[in-house]
Amino acid sequence: MTTRSNGEHHHGGGPPSYQQQQRRPHYGGAPYGGGSASFRGCCCCIFLLLTFLALLALAVALVVVLVVKPRKPQFDLNQVSVQYLLVTPPSSSAASAAMGGTVAAAVPAAAYLSLNITLLFTAVNPNKVGIRYGATAFDVMYHGVPLGVAAVPGFEQPAHSTRLLQTRVIVDRFNVLQADAQDLVRDAAISDRVDLRITGDVGAKILVLGFSSPKVQVSVDCAIAISPRRQSLTYKQCGVDGLSV
Ligand SMILES: *[C@@H]1O[C@H](CO)[C@@H](O)[C@H](O)[C@H]1NC(C)=O
Repeated sequence: MTTRSNGEHHHGGGPPSYQQQQRRPHYGGAPYGGGSASFRGCCCCIFLLLTFLALLALAVALVVVLVVKPRKPQFDLNQVSVQYLLVTPPSSSAASAAMGGTVAAAVPAAAYLSLNITLLFTAVNPNKVGIRYGATAFDVMYHGVPLGVAAVPGFEQPAHSTRLLQTRVIVDRFNVLQADAQDLVRDAAISDRVDLRITGDVGAKILVLGFSSPKVQVSVDCAIAISPRRQSLTYKQCGVDGLSV
């Protein structure tokens, strides 16, 4: 430092050397270099802290999973009670033709299906923690054609509990077309049996310490048969669990 200031003194006048001397501290490496080093250190610290927190969160999640051992809730169609099921052919001539067996010429254009049934579902929560279910609409289908829906509102279910949910499906003169109409009229009149399918996916979230897990899907897929003559359920089979993921 001393040698340099000396050299400058030798070369020129005073003012430039003062400027340079004044400027020097601004360009000087020491204060800024120290700042960036501490900044880098701080960065490293934050990174380590974040890594630590992430590992901690992972460990807590692991412990929770091990302690809670979350299991898939069960959601089943328990009972079906039939208030009424009516199959009305569009006109008597088409109906008699269909029933007479001379089907070649007579292709009934439509038949009407009216329905009033009550579905009773059972929700079982086998977990040590609560579950929240989303609202679900179950489809009621005839030959793959949706006739109507059975709505079940969302609800929360406490740990280790069973809950019954009742819902009603009302279908008023659903227009069943073409080949399905023919089958429907024949099934009802001759076999005394109308096959329906009830399907739906229930979305559930497991609640742990105020947090909710990702959605778990429970599939309901049931085949039922109703006797129009007796106005009652004659057959019910749920599962092979459908496509449960
Ligand atoms: C369906 O059946 C229930 C119970 O019998 C009855 O209260 C309700 O009015 C019926 N609904 C219709 C639309 O017929």
